[in-house]
Amino acid sequence: MCGIVGYIGKREAYPIIINGLKRLEYRGYDSAGIALFDGTDIQLSKTKGKVVDLEARAEKEITMKGNLGIGHTRWATHGVPNDVNSHPHYSNSGDLVIIHNGIIENYASIKKELQNRGYTFKSDTDTEVLVNLIEEVKKKENVKLGKAVQIALNGVVGAYAIAVFDRNKPDEIVVAKLGSPLAIGIGDDEFFIASDASPFIEFTNNAIYLEDEELAIVRLGRDVKVRKIKNDKLVTPHIHELQLNIEQIEKGGYDHFMMKEIYEQPSVIKDTYRGRLLADQGLIHLGGLEDYIPKFLNADRIIIIACGTSWHAGLVAEYVFEDLTRIPVEVEYASEFRYRNPIITEKDVVIAISQSGETADTLAAIKLAKEKGAFVYGICNVVGSSISRETHSGTYTHAGPEIGVASTKAFTTQITVLTMIALKLAKTKGTISKRDYMLYLHELELIPTRVEEALKSNEKIKEIAEVFKNASNFLYLGRGCNFPVALEGALKLKEISYIHAEGYPAAEMKHGPIALIDENMPVVVIAINSDHYDKVVSNIQEIKSRKGIIIAVVTEGDTAVTEMADYVMVVPKTPEMLTPLVTTIPLQLLSYHIAVLLDRNVDQPRNLAKSVTVE
Ligand code: G6P
Repeated sequence: MCGIVGYIGKREAYPIIINGLKRLEYRGYDSAGIALFDGTDIQLSKTKGKVVDLEARAEKEITMKGNLGIGHTRWATHGVPNDVNSHPHYSNSGDLVIIHNGIIENYASIKKELQNRGYTFKSDTDTEVLVNLIEEVKKKENVKLGKAVQIALNGVVGAYAIAVFDRNKPDEIVVAKLGSPLAIGIGDDEFFIASDASPFIEFTNNAIYLEDEELAIVRLGRDVKVRKIKNDKLVTPHIHELQLNIEQIEKGGYDHFMMKEIYEQPSVIKDTYRGRLLADQGLIHLGGLEDYIPKFLNADRIIIIACGTSWHAGLVAEYVFEDLTRIPVEVEYASEFRYRNPIITEKDVVIAISQSGETADTLAAIKLAKEKGAFVYGICNVVGSSISRETHSGTYTHAGPEIGVASTKAFTTQITVLTMIALKLAKTKGTISKRDYMLYLHELELIPTRVEEALKSNEKIKEIAEVFKNASNFLYLGRGCNFPVALEGALKLKEISYIHAEGYPAAEMKHGPIALIDENMPVVVIAINSDHYDKVVSNIQEIKSRKGIIIAVVTEGDTAVTEMADYVMVVPKTPEMLTPLVTTIPLQLLSYHIAVLLDRNVDQPRNLAKSVTVE
């Protein structure tokens, strides 16, 4: 949520900041801005809209060159998206310039105090309050910028990743973080600042990820100095060697990141199990899990916490874990869990699932579970993210950077990891037969091929999308472990096409949604070969007799549903427990094509953010 980027060094800062903002635009895209500093003058340009709108405006407004710059792409929290509320923000004197990702919760009282001292505010943002608070501290305490930032941040409540510079200190940017991510790229006497490493990957492979409540002074000619904001202690930062490469963060010939990411699924699922799943030897080895298997096996229950698509992966895991391991599983929205005074004991194991590893509610839920003594295991995609650091142990999905706001490859790689964990636990506990265990291992290894097969229906699905692109509502139905897939299919459609869609367990349809069915209601039914097949066939008949239109996801070779359905999307055969990994593919493609046909902004749907770092 909100992307920040900064540069200080010998190069011209403008192109680095603009390109960086484009790469971070997945984090927020309702407005964007840039400030450049040439050692004497500061020029600032900002606008409501996207980074391309900023570029158009900056072309006229930024007339100089500068070696220091900061930029911001916004997802509004305080104040509507407009030019004035866009970042960067000046302090009243015009000396300090700030960009901020996060929320200052006590901004209203600070603002009042500053107003009493004569400060005025142009915007409605909490950020402008923060930069003036820093200015006030700097003047009152007669301290340098770094110290002023530190004192000011000790007085605020909320979350932040900030970068701020001072007209009087042309060789320095001060950054700090709590709750929102911040990386510092280290070049040859040049530094890059960003919400993630993607803006500077072509310049350096070395980066420091600030921890919460840390402040860094990034000054030319000097090593980065990192301090704890609360107690002023100097910290020796760990310099990470980045594994990212430039191809991973570009579209690779696809029109949209979402499509690229859908098509990457065969390879990233393979990357996720590579070296961990050795089917021929009957082995699963997950580094983060090995030492903690007894924790899982002795647990009273497993609680899975997550948000959005990751929560849907958790729901799939509930079916898989309970079936294979016979350990009770509960799946909770992190946002509900954290505020409902949940009963958690040391005998509980919590699994937190998050693509970004930065979701504020999931992070807070993890902290709560830890406080209550639970063991917390993380499943994250972003290496070094806050959630991966906050959990006791965990397993990374190897999906690579996911840029499209609608999550696709993160979902299937999360299910891959969760399935491997369940199989490993079941094998150790003895709740799975040797035969079934070996079968699942081999079938899991074949999933990339199955996904490739499922992707072959793309053209057919595009035709179906053409037929239904103007529908106002969709219903998605599934049973068993495909019920969460129905939820996920509906979510994908809502997110990127803005068509209302609901996911339901097929049998529950009779308790409400059936009232909605008429000749205008497309119903997407996951009707693959499974123990529930006959029941789903009955559900389809109930819909047909009310004139509903059936778009069915069927297993190759299917006849009964294929005859009844108006349209079918075929997926290859795989054991029922693994079907979510393939049934989700046509639903991703359907939503993608409908959104493209409706001319929606597929990768940056309105109002959404990729990484929700505020609650
Ligand atoms: C946002 C994203 C979703 C994502 C959810 C949880 O809403 O738009 O795609 O599923 O956050 O994010 P996480 O990074 O924790 O998986």
